[in-house]
Amino acid sequence: MSGVVLIVGGTSGIGLRLAERCAAAGERVVITGRDGVRAAAVAASLSGEVVGLGLDLSVPERVGECLAGVGGVRWLVLAAVERDANVVREYDVAAAVRLVTLKLVGYSEVVHQLVGRLADDASVVLFGGLAWRRPYPGSTTITTINGGVSGLVRTLAVELAPVRVNALHPGVVGDSPEWAGKPAGVLDALVARTPLGRLATMDDVVGAALFLLENRAVNGVNLEVDGGWLLV
Ligand SMILES: NC(=O)c1ccc[n+]([C@@H]2O[C@H](COP(=O)([O-])OP(=O)(O)OC[C@H]3O[C@@H](n4cnc5c(N)ncnc54)[C@H](OP(=O)(O)O)[C@@H]3O)[C@@H](O)[C@H]2O)c1
Repeated sequence: MSGVVLIVGGTSGIGLRLAERCAAAGERVVITGRDGVRAAAVAASLSGEVVGLGLDLSVPERVGECLAGVGGVRWLVLAAVERDANVVREYDVAAAVRLVTLKLVGYSEVVHQLVGRLADDASVVLFGGLAWRRPYPGSTTITTINGGVSGLVRTLAVELAPVRVNALHPGVVGDSPEWAGKPAGVLDALVARTPLGRLATMDDVVGAALFLLENRAVNGVNLEVDGGWLLV
């Protein structure tokens, strides 16, 4: 199979860890972040063949030109996110529109732009998150977009067939940049609620992403990587 591994949102966190793993395995990797200079610097800091590009999903009209230089794509991973706290009683319309645009319209537009560059045996992974099934105070937009991802994966798997499309929904990823700096008390309370007795790690999530990318029969699946959170 030819083509690059393209990781949208590959300059930080789980996307970056996945880029490292793919590059170490000899894949040609393209990572994106909002700022092209920063993305190029992050790419240059990795071992292997890694290129960094600027791509802002909150401006979906420009996605096509940002991806113009990308050729065939073997694996497409959509991991980008911006954080948002929104409750419906004090609804912030601008913040909600931005995040819905980024994750649902932006993810879809990336696929639209690349569809002619995906081989039949290409594979796509979209990132959602556990809030789609387990809301928390302030998660109104996050729960909405992650629920949207769960639907998007099903329609894309049908529309792009035989290209496979799956979604991954991490729980709290304890060593990710978003969570690693939180006070111990916050993390301890989350661990206490996790049947596994520890939080998922970035490596756990990357392993799940590689499984979805590599397995030739898994298609249209929403996979939770949460250490069993949804059970309790
Ligand atoms: N970490 C967790 O515990 C957790 C839990 C549930 C779900 N998830 C999901 O897992 C995925 C990865 O999470 P993470 O915590 O590893 O992410 P992260 O470290 O916050 O990284 C986010 C990435 O998205 C990029 N990005 C931000 N705004 C963007 C925009 N407007 N357009 C394009 N790219 C943009 C960032 O690039 P720049 O900063 O360089 O622009 C960065 O590469 C996300 O989809 C998230 O929703 C994570």
